[in-house]
Amino acid sequence: MKVTDLKINGIYNPVGYSFESLKCSWKVRDSYAGSAKRSKIEVSTSPGMSPVLYGKEGADLDSTGEALDLQCQPMTRYYYRVEVETDQAELSVSEISYFETGKLGEAWIADWIGTQEADTFHPLFRKGFGLASESPVATARLYITGLGLYEAYINGRKAGNELLAPLYSDYNTEIQVQTYDVTDLLSENNTIEIMLGNGWYKGRFGLGNLKENFGSVFACIAELHITHQSGEKHIIQTDESWRYKGSDIELSDIYDGEILNRLLWSEEENPEKPVRILSLDKKKLVSRYSIPVIVKEERYPQSIIHTPARETVLDMGQNFSGLISFHNTFPKGTKLIFDFGEILQNGSFYNDNYRSAKTQFVYISDGTSEYVSPRFTFFGFRYVRVTGWLGELAVTDIAGKVIFSDLEQSGFIQTSNEKINRLFENALWGQKSNFIDFPTDCPQRDERLAWTGDAQVFARTASYNMDTRAFYHKFMHDLRTEQQKHNGIISIYIPVLGEPLGCSVWGDIGTFLPMVLYKQYGDKEMLAQYFPMMKDWVDYITREDTKRGRQHLYNFGSQITDWLAQDGRSPQSFKGGTDDYFISSCYYYESTRLVAEAAALLGKDLLTEEYSQMAEKIRAAILAEYFTSSGRLSIDTQTGYLVALNFGIYPDKTKLLEGLRERFYKDCHKLTGGFVGAPVMCRVLAENGMEEEALDFLLQEEYPSWLYCVNLGATTIWERWNSVLPDGTISGTMMNSLNHYAYGSVIEYLYRNLGGIDPLEPGFKKVRFAPQINRKFKSFQVVYDSVSGTYALEWKIKDDGTVQIRFEVPFACRAEVVLPQYDGETFNLEPGVHELTYRPLTDYRKLFTMNSRLEEMVKNEQALEVLQRKLPGIFHFLSLDDIDGKTHSLNTLVKMDFFGITQQDIESAAAEILEIQD
Ligand code: BGC
Repeated sequence: MKVTDLKINGIYNPVGYSFESLKCSWKVRDSYAGSAKRSKIEVSTSPGMSPVLYGKEGADLDSTGEALDLQCQPMTRYYYRVEVETDQAELSVSEISYFETGKLGEAWIADWIGTQEADTFHPLFRKGFGLASESPVATARLYITGLGLYEAYINGRKAGNELLAPLYSDYNTEIQVQTYDVTDLLSENNTIEIMLGNGWYKGRFGLGNLKENFGSVFACIAELHITHQSGEKHIIQTDESWRYKGSDIELSDIYDGEILNRLLWSEEENPEKPVRILSLDKKKLVSRYSIPVIVKEERYPQSIIHTPARETVLDMGQNFSGLISFHNTFPKGTKLIFDFGEILQNGSFYNDNYRSAKTQFVYISDGTSEYVSPRFTFFGFRYVRVTGWLGELAVTDIAGKVIFSDLEQSGFIQTSNEKINRLFENALWGQKSNFIDFPTDCPQRDERLAWTGDAQVFARTASYNMDTRAFYHKFMHDLRTEQQKHNGIISIYIPVLGEPLGCSVWGDIGTFLPMVLYKQYGDKEMLAQYFPMMKDWVDYITREDTKRGRQHLYNFGSQITDWLAQDGRSPQSFKGGTDDYFISSCYYYESTRLVAEAAALLGKDLLTEEYSQMAEKIRAAILAEYFTSSGRLSIDTQTGYLVALNFGIYPDKTKLLEGLRERFYKDCHKLTGGFVGAPVMCRVLAENGMEEEALDFLLQEEYPSWLYCVNLGATTIWERWNSVLPDGTISGTMMNSLNHYAYGSVIEYLYRNLGGIDPLEPGFKKVRFAPQINRKFKSFQVVYDSVSGTYALEWKIKDDGTVQIRFEVPFACRAEVVLPQYDGETFNLEPGVHELTYRPLTDYRKLFTMNSRLEEMVKNEQALEVLQRKLPGIFHFLSLDDIDGKTHSLNTLVKMDFFGITQQDIESAAAEILEIQD
């Protein structure tokens, strides 16, 4: 037995964070005891844990997040450990972890410093200093921030390992400060240097060529607190004694890239000058919320391509966000240019889909040998065009650095279908690429904004894939900061640059995300903290509705809704064909219901009552407006039905399902949904008795489908179903990213439905194992390292037709098992590894059902023979090779009775075809 995974507020050993409250979580591994008899948390300021400053002990300490009611002092490191005794008398103590506070409310003695007004170049600030005491340095901490981005060096070595600090915040309201342990960087005589870049603060950022959104002046502020073993303390701070000169960075920009020109000052004077003290508001300085962005993986090119356009292009083998690095040994004056792209066109380099983002790194050598990597930008790419490299380029010459926020992977899926495995990887890479401090739409073009709709649809998948607690906490903090300035509106993206635009699905992140996190991690305090955000969003819509006479519908204002759906005016249209206000009203209903649900969880009885009643009125208004009097949905689109089903808005479920089935038939079983319909499609079908249809959509390979992109070699999820055409041509540049995670939300269905791990209690203390075992997979394995511990479920269909399942339930957790085609009752599992083999009531080795498509059947010799013999009439219509014929099934053929196909013929064919085995 081991007590591991100690985190404070979802972070390992956090240093310098804003902690509104302290929540300590841990996991017990290598034990399958049923419960903790006793747990104990001890906190001390001494690494030896003595004396203990704070302790908490009891039978019911919550391992998913136990509050530490500790009054933290600023600039203090706290050590802590957790001891657990199980009900089987096992006992274990964790290793010692720590958390450390930043300056918190402590006043700054440092000043903001900047350059003289006329100097608009990228500055390098510098100060030399000696140590104030002979006594060795015990600890040294650097409290620092810079605008737009900074890197700090002491004696030429970088403080910390993070990139793009101070990361994003609504800089108008607050600027995050980082804390670095720099004890090991100091010597007798020291130089501290701070480099600055433009970043989100003052570089290009936003739609429509915006720049300098938050400010136009480079600035930084820092305090270096040195404590000697003698107890003497000494502070070096930014003030008028610092000097600056121009750095070698000629250009830096999130969208456009970077120019690092080692000869920038070779022909111009670059004297050191005294800094200017700036009057920026120090009250905006806050301890960090963002978790760091770091290099998470390194990868070398898969190959080097010499293209028809005579370019040298590296193929990294994977689309990702990050940087490149190499060792410069080139002579003075060598100029290297690196361009980044996601796809080749006609075998040559291409990145027109990055629109106005230049995304280029230029390096000019002064002949010094050094390791080179850009500092104040990042790129979204798979291919790198290298221009100016002297000599033959080898795959080991240039490394790719994959960067993203320091998140830990928690979900793993492995199936017998390689293409589905790749789809899972693609969605994961979509998350890695777009979780760079805040959830972005895409990492490459001139956008990279926190589009709230994209984030909303992907949040649940993201939280299975990775431990998102701290990441989303920061994002919710940002959303709330903006919302409070805008009268309850949660805009379609943050930062709000200009007027906010509130619209459904996007703004609904305000209600959906807190609830997703509560279900996933069970943190009620976090839910309470963001309850006002949930309520304010709904109240905003209600206020607008009231202004024009209360209709209980969200049928006003502009709506994005089913973005990039296939049933719009053309396959390239932005908007799908589902009525905007039907979707927005349904989301208004669901958001209101979620406010009521959260209020109930938080014990707010009056609000529970008020919002439940309001939700009912909205529901009634939707039923009156959008359903016929006999109960059919008048919005006849796939997304229309899916939204209604997902939120339970219908007077008659059977009629709704009939309508949806008929819609699928009319659409030749091709999916049509965009950002609203597609992300929830398979899960909603799977949860409403249409498991077979859900699987069918997941496994389709022709456009539009999830596997279409996989077949075309995608390594991430595309923005559009047809981002790339079957011949490999990109379908347009106006808005076409190959790394947009929205459709990656289908992975939630793999975790929760096919893999069958779904929480029954918030924080996964209890789950329902209800895998949707089926004939299309031979095996399916899901592992989810939840906040309560690791659950695993693996099912296999054996050659003899039996189903073998292996379940794992972590320490102190429980599971309820509901198996399909199982001749027994629902049963419960205690912690441990359990195996079960059963013979399903339906033989999963049988290849076809009444709903299998004819196109699948004709690929099977036996089925083909039966069809030819029993239903010769259909061959005329199949031979047209038309989608209409191919997508019929035995079930729907009856609609073609004018071909002389009778129900009896179909049944007689079915009698043989449904028996065919693998
Ligand atoms: C973004 C999307 C976003 C959409 C909404 C696009 O430009 O990339 O992902 O949700 O706009 O209008």
